[in-house]
Amino acid sequence: MFYLGVDVGSLSCDAVLVDEQGQMVDWAVIPTGARNVESIAKVQRQILAKSGIPLQQVGATIATGYGRDRVEGRLASVTEITCHGRGIQAALAGTEVLVDIGGQDSKAMLLDGKGRVLDFAMNDKCAAGTGRFLEAMARTLEIELAQLGHLDKDAHGDLTLSSMCTVFAESEVVSLIAEGAAVPEIVRGLHRAIANRTRTLIKRVAPNLSGLAVAMSGGVARNPGVVRTLGQVLDCEISVPKEPDTIGALGAALIARDRSVKR
Ligand SMILES: Nc1ncnc2c1ncn2[C@@H]1O[C@H](COP(=O)(O)OP(=O)(O)OP(=O)(O)O)[C@@H](O)[C@H]1O
Ligand SMILES: [Mg+2]
Repeated sequence: MFYLGVDVGSLSCDAVLVDEQGQMVDWAVIPTGARNVESIAKVQRQILAKSGIPLQQVGATIATGYGRDRVEGRLASVTEITCHGRGIQAALAGTEVLVDIGGQDSKAMLLDGKGRVLDFAMNDKCAAGTGRFLEAMARTLEIELAQLGHLDKDAHGDLTLSSMCTVFAESEVVSLIAEGAAVPEIVRGLHRAIANRTRTLIKRVAPNLSGLAVAMSGGVARNPGVVRTLGQVLDCEISVPKEPDTIGALGAALIARDRSVKR
C-alpha cells in the first residue's frame, strides 16, 4: 500500500506519496488557483500518473493546508503545523526550529528533534513578508521570481524599506526605482525586511538559537536570498530540504502511513 498527503495551500497545491516504509515515492506541485476543488483533483491525478500507482493502492489520504477540508475521501484533516513538523523530521532529521514561509502566512515552530511540535508562532494576518509579497515585488521590479533570490548576492548597501505592507512597499519600490536605486540593492532591502520580520517570529518560540538545528520549509525557501539573509540576521546556519514546498504534504503522507500501519 501507498499513502498520500495533500497540502492545499493558498498558492500551491502539493501532493506526496510514500510507501509502507515511509519513503517518498513521488511528489507533485501545481498552482492552487481560484478553484481549489479542481486543483485538488488535478494534483491527485498527476501524482498517480507520474508514479504509475493506481488509486486502489492508496491506503489513506491525509489533507492539510487552508483548503484541507475540501479534499474528498480523506482519512482526516491535520494542521499545517503538525504536518510540517512531521515532514521536516523525515527530510532533515533532528531539526529543532523550523520556519515555514508560504504564499500567505509564515510560521515558526519549536520541535522536540523528533518531529513533534512543542510551540509555534504564526503570522497569518496579511501577506507582509510572505511569498505573495515577494511575487508582487518581483512584478514591480520586472524580474522573474526565480531570479530574485540571486540578484542581491553582490549588493552591499543598507537600503531599508520602511513598510512591509505589500501595497505601501510596492509604491516605495517604485519611488526607489525613480530615484535611481540599483535593483540588487532594492532586492537586498526586501530580503532584509523579510528576514527581520521572520526573526521576530522565530524569537517568540526560540529566544536563544545557539546550538539548535534550524531549517526552513515552504516555497519561499526556494529563494536563496531570503535563506542567506535570514541566516545572517539570526547568525546561524539554515538547512533547506529538497523540494521545501512539499514538506507539509510529506508530513501529511507520513501521518496517513503512521495511522494506517498502527491500526
Ligand atoms: N522557484 C522559486 N523561487 C523563488 N520563490 C519561489 C519559487 N517557487 C515558489 N516560490 C515562492 O513560494 C511561494 C509559495 O509557497 P508555498 O507553495 O509554500 O505556499 P502555500 O503553501 O500555497 O501558502 P500558505 O502555506 O501560506 O497557504 C510563492 O509565493 C513564491 O514566493
Ligand atoms: Mg503552505
